[in-house]
Amino acid sequence: MQRLTFIQPDDWHLHVRDGDHMISVIAATARCFARAVIMPNLKPPVTTVSQALAYRERICNILAPDTSFTPLMTLYLTEHTTPNDIIQAKASGEIVAIKYYPAGATTHSEFGVTDLRKVWHTLEAMQLYDVPLLIHGEVVADSIDIFDKERIFIEQILDPLRAEFPELRIVLEHITTQEAVEYVALANDKLAATITAHHLAMNRNDLFKNGIRPHHYCLPVLKRESHRQALLQAATSGNPKFFLGTDSAPHAVHTKEAACGCAGMYTAPLAIELYAEIFEAYHALDKLEGFASFYGADFYRLPRNTNTITLMKKTWQVPDTLTFGTTQVIPLRAGENMSWQLA
Ligand code: NCD
Ligand code: ZN
Repeated sequence: MQRLTFIQPDDWHLHVRDGDHMISVIAATARCFARAVIMPNLKPPVTTVSQALAYRERICNILAPDTSFTPLMTLYLTEHTTPNDIIQAKASGEIVAIKYYPAGATTHSEFGVTDLRKVWHTLEAMQLYDVPLLIHGEVVADSIDIFDKERIFIEQILDPLRAEFPELRIVLEHITTQEAVEYVALANDKLAATITAHHLAMNRNDLFKNGIRPHHYCLPVLKRESHRQALLQAATSGNPKFFLGTDSAPHAVHTKEAACGCAGMYTAPLAIELYAEIFEAYHALDKLEGFASFYGADFYRLPRNTNTITLMKKTWQVPDTLTFGTTQVIPLRAGENMSWQLA
């Protein structure tokens, strides 16, 4: 296959940061995705409708005049988020979901929730008004092995939550394990999951290939090969519960290449190309459109896109570094060749 034309995809999990940093980052996403679910983990986090609408406006203001890109906004769930916040979010028509970070689980999660019981009435309102909950599915206890944090979250937090809120629509974000794949596949249609390109492309050996690789560090951390195989199987299965979410999460190079480096991989500049490469290697290019362009929109009950994009079989090199505000960011696959290019 030399050309691949399909309905324009959306990114159902994206970090664009703020201010100067957004300029290059938004352009990298808008070049190929029609819409993206914008994560609210700014510092301070986006917790109110008015903050989300202001953030949305900042994003739209830096879009190049000829680009059409729709940011889909989220609110960050804190222990102070009230049922009234949910009612306002629903009424705004601009907030597509609420993001739950277990406090301490990842970048800028310190404002997150320590115990879901503290936001029980808020969750009731989300269920009632049908506002989806997006979950960073990892337990935080230091006593739990980092490679087990997702599996144990599903057992201890997600499964009881779903039993208490059977009508609440939930997306388990950036799944990384066979257990997550199996859990989501067996669940009813209230539960779906996003899958990143980097968790499909790499396993935990890639964190330590000939030395420690800070640019391959993200959360949830890369897992062993058997889990990657389970993710590949899920993403290419045609099961609409699994859809594209890059979790592209840029950090300035000096904050990644540090004694305590930040979590997050920057994949937006090569995202759809990387998914295409992965699906091709798995002999499943025919499944890419559903995963990238249909199932997420269907879950969020938004119209599918109608225009198309084309990928061509053409080698190009990912830049070594990219501008990130006044600093630089190193994208995944920096300096390496990609086989598909956006027309
Ligand atoms: C994300 C970030 O940097 O904002 N990092 C990451 O490793 N994925 C936060 C997140 O989604 O966990
Ligand atoms: Zn994320």
